Amino acid sequence: EEGLHPTAYPWVHTKWTKTFDHQALRRGFQVYQEVCSSCHSLSRIPYRSLVGVTHTVDEAKAMAEENEYDSEPNDEGEIEKRPGKLSDYLPSPYKNDEAARAANNGALPPDLSLIVKARHGGIDYIFNLLTGYPEEPPAGAVVMEGLNFNPYFPGTGIAMARVLYNELVEYDDETPATTSQMAKDVTEFLNWAAEPEMDQRKKMGLKVLAISSVLFALSVWVKRYKWSAIK
Ligand code: HEM
Repeated sequence: EEGLHPTAYPWVHTKWTKTFDHQALRRGFQVYQEVCSSCHSLSRIPYRSLVGVTHTVDEAKAMAEENEYDSEPNDEGEIEKRPGKLSDYLPSPYKNDEAARAANNGALPPDLSLIVKARHGGIDYIFNLLTGYPEEPPAGAVVMEGLNFNPYFPGTGIAMARVLYNELVEYDDETPATTSQMAKDVTEFLNWAAEPEMDQRKKMGLKVLAISSVLFALSVWVKRYKWSAIK
């Protein structure tokens, strides 16, 4: 069963001449960290990948150090706890899928690293999902116990309740944290997580275009020059 078709928004960062807005990525990371990370892992992202994207080296190091990781076993085979480093991956909220389900009424909050690519509708779907919870399900809608009505979710009954509310986070850059602003920022951040190479790809594409245009113009000129005696 399909969900309601998501509204398509004019995302700036997906235009082929534009790059991610790094201020938005930083805000989006904050929303992930303060809201989503209590249920969803982002297991493909190491702290080092945030450096120069959302945070400085020192900030990323400090965030990594706030977590504990298992050390390599020592000579006696003992594993100890050590503070995180830049090469560590963002921590998962649960030990395993069973623990995750147990905490969420049997539903599994999916890892968000590739969710933008994994879901039909991509960023528009995620944004619509996060902002699409009505106050009350429409008259006549059947919502199973423990589920929440969201018209964008296939089947309309989703285990995740609405999580974003105005002013839930406080942004460093003083952007007003409305529900839709947070949804937009976290969605853009999740797009970066799934396609961190997107900016590089576009920059490379522009270079290829610029250089090949020059070479093409040059070849036209050479051809005319060489053949001009025959005309
Ligand atoms: C599912 C995003 C916060 C629990 C999902 C899905 C996305 C998502 C994209 C997948 C929907 C689908 O399968 O099509 C987010 C974002 C969050 C957030 C961006 C933060 C802004 C939370 C929180 C919880 C939670 C805080 C727990 C309290 C779940 C659960 C599911 C889910 C249990 C599975 C739903 C089902 O299959 O019925 N979330 N989520 N999420 N989320 Fe979240």
